[in-house]
Amino acid sequence: MSHPLFSPRPTAYIFDAYGTLFDVHSAVARHRAAIGDQADRLSEIWRLKQLEYTWVRSLCGAYRDFAVLTAEALDFAAARCGGIASALRADLIAAYQCLDAYPEVRHTLAELKGKGARLAILSNGTQAMLQDAIASAGLADLFEAVLSVDDIGIFKTAPQAYALVASHMGVAPDAVSFQSSNRWDVAGAARFGFRAVWINRSGLPDEYLDLAPVAQIASLEGLLNL
Ligand code: LAC
Repeated sequence: MSHPLFSPRPTAYIFDAYGTLFDVHSAVARHRAAIGDQADRLSEIWRLKQLEYTWVRSLCGAYRDFAVLTAEALDFAAARCGGIASALRADLIAAYQCLDAYPEVRHTLAELKGKGARLAILSNGTQAMLQDAIASAGLADLFEAVLSVDDIGIFKTAPQAYALVASHMGVAPDAVSFQSSNRWDVAGAARFGFRAVWINRSGLPDEYLDLAPVAQIASLEGLLNL
């Protein structure tokens, strides 16, 4: 029996996908030369609009899947940045389907798994998007489950999204370590009762102070020392 002052180690490590395992800016980075000097702005607007669409559609009950919203967000971002050719649009959508994984992902997750942890993804992405990204990054052997909010038609931070972990894996929220680089996702996970860990890759200031993570680390590698 564990000492009451110390919580037991988490049994399941659940990972957000986009921004946490996969670099959402790697799609634009691959086509930087064709986009030109608006490339970084395009990538920022693309990501921000994609997320805004998930929250608005969840709140008003007008769900569309993440692949559709990702394309709609790209169209808005491109329009804001002076437009892009249709071939480049197709290249960017294709690149989003096979984003780069961050360099520490494979060895960190393999080490956690080797210690007996159960690993899974919980993402807004569709199953098709997630399976392509996982396969192209060579991570398929690591995860026991890939959970998509597409099954329930509402995005994070709705509690029903985080509840997919319990219903599919049979673990109580306080036995889950939930990792996300998205502070808003950390807030939702903390509110749900997960031990939320903020992967603050770019040193952003903290927010949602009443919905705090149990730890803040600069990359997933920090999980090995928690
Ligand atoms: C995900 C996005 C929102 O759920 O980061 O993977």
